Amino acid sequence: MGTGGADKGTANRLPGKVTTTSILARKGGEKITSVTAYDYSTAKLVDAAGVDVILVGDSLGMVMLGYPDTTRVTLAEMLHHVKAVSRARPRALLVADLPFLSFGVSVRDTLRNAGRFIREAGAEAVKLEGGIRVREEIRALVDCQIPVMGHVGLTPQSVHSFGGFKVQGRTQDAADQILRDAVAVQEGGAFSLVLEGIPAELAERITHEVDIPTIGIGAGPHCDGQVLVIHDMFHLFDDFTPRFVKVYADLGESMREALRRYCEDVRAGRFPGEEHCF
Ligand code: KIV
Repeated sequence: MGTGGADKGTANRLPGKVTTTSILARKGGEKITSVTAYDYSTAKLVDAAGVDVILVGDSLGMVMLGYPDTTRVTLAEMLHHVKAVSRARPRALLVADLPFLSFGVSVRDTLRNAGRFIREAGAEAVKLEGGIRVREEIRALVDCQIPVMGHVGLTPQSVHSFGGFKVQGRTQDAADQILRDAVAVQEGGAFSLVLEGIPAELAERITHEVDIPTIGIGAGPHCDGQVLVIHDMFHLFDDFTPRFVKVYADLGESMREALRRYCEDVRAGRFPGEEHCF
């Protein structure tokens, strides 16, 4: 089919589809909202609420798969979840996180791996962690028409180098380095940039210095948008809750309570009832 024809994918899209260019145009304007999702049903809920960007983050390694950090997440695991989310055909922009070492080794591997998220899994952009050291890879991806979201500051894949999940950019030198990283991500051609775990004043400075929208997590209120891990927002993951998280509803407790009632009903013979029987 030529470019003039609408295939099934585009024909069924909701009006107002969020794209990388519409996100870029939001710099300094209406704040961008982003939330993670890792499966079809959650992606539909998130999309119905009007969230702008669905991120299939490698945080899924911790909140879905029970790994101690994100360095163990594989390409196959990420692809599996991105495919599930893309089946929801969201109006939101669908961004897939490149897992540890699926980039940063060689440009060739980065292109091949990122290409799989677009072609096989239905992502519309990829996210990768790092600044100056990944500038050329970002450029190569963008040259191959793969839009990139950058990610600097407390980059979780660097947990072992950082010696833990520690706020970054607290000294002047460290702050200047993160700013240089942010500029490098922009120079590579990224359409947006996640700022994670840095002081609010530094995030404000970076947001002012770069022309691409910044999306903060634990980076204060001055970014062009915010992103949260959905399991944190709803207390579905309680191994730890970072200080920057706002719990919008304690669905973890609601689920525990509902499950207790289910067990009681089954044990007491109250479920299934007449109305549940054939
Ligand atoms: O993996 C993830 O969910 C992320 C966000 C926290 C930005 O990278």
